[in-house]
Amino acid sequence: MGKKISKLTKSSSNNNESELLEERTNVSHSFKYVDGKRYHNIPSLRYHLPNDGDEFDRLQMQHYLSRYIWQSNFSAPVHELLSNGGGDTRVLDVGCGPGTWILEMSSDYPETELFHGIDIVPIFPDTIKPFNASFSTQNALEGLKFPDNYFDYVYMRFLTAAFSTEQWETVVIPELVRVTKSGGYIEIMEWDVKIYGQGPIAKRLMDSFLADLRSRGINDCIVEVIQEFMEKTNQLTNIEHDTRTNPQGLYAGQLGKLALDNGLSIFRTYKPKFSKDYNMTSEEYDKLIEDFIKEMDIYQPHNITHRFWAKKI
Ligand SMILES: C[S@@+](CC[C@H](N)C(=O)[O-])C[C@H]1O[C@@H](n2cnc3c(N)ncnc32)[C@H](O)[C@@H]1O
Repeated sequence: MGKKISKLTKSSSNNNESELLEERTNVSHSFKYVDGKRYHNIPSLRYHLPNDGDEFDRLQMQHYLSRYIWQSNFSAPVHELLSNGGGDTRVLDVGCGPGTWILEMSSDYPETELFHGIDIVPIFPDTIKPFNASFSTQNALEGLKFPDNYFDYVYMRFLTAAFSTEQWETVVIPELVRVTKSGGYIEIMEWDVKIYGQGPIAKRLMDSFLADLRSRGINDCIVEVIQEFMEKTNQLTNIEHDTRTNPQGLYAGQLGKLALDNGLSIFRTYKPKFSKDYNMTSEEYDKLIEDFIKEMDIYQPHNITHRFWAKKI
């Protein structure tokens, strides 16, 4: 009974906070539809991946794939803090998408007061979520709508396709640091956008994908400079960087299949563009993708993910 009351008390105080956070919105959202897929409709943004059901499935799969590869949801030394932070511990997830990381973390750490996600589109669940999880629609490039030193742990994952190099350096990383409390942690996780050991079909598809990212002003090698940008803030210490390699392709069992499905989902999204660029019919493009899958058994390629984390001075 006592436990129930304290949960209810927590829940209602969190609702007040959620309402306050809801007011911090700096984005008016609408969607646009292209080739049957749903996208955000904010012309100033570089981010161009869809935000429909297929993409939610991909993000969810990518979450479980990442958790398996790393055998954890995070690398910063925040387990103790989140387990018994004393009731006012707050966590922020920037670009949270449908919120799989937040939903899992807020269930794993019920003692943490708040797990708050922000994204340019409100695709975070409205109702069915843990009592300590909440969301507001915000564009990280317009500055995070939080006071300085507000969160104990600030997390951001898979935003490579969202920002230019200059935005990473001058807006995004400084904002993550600004809203983190002194003594708190920030963590960034990203894919290295390459297929290592790729065959000729993978190279063709990846060259097209990278050319498209670059045409949007995206730095597909951002993992090479994230640590440098963290150091340049002069507000972070104990900066750590770690990587994991994972196989991609049916040759590597279930793990390789998940990584392959992740890539396939992207290449299917790009089908209208790439089949036009390659002057292929729909059937020819599907055949190319089938051959890409088979080619992986021969070349046995792999991907790399990176995590960077640091403590705010
Ligand atoms: C590839 S998804 C990753 C989602 C989530 N972090 C995860 O790991 O599943 C990138 C997300 O960043 C969001 N995003 C893109 N640009 C953004 C911006 N300027 N501010 C906030 N969110 C942004 C997108 O809407 C999308 O939900």
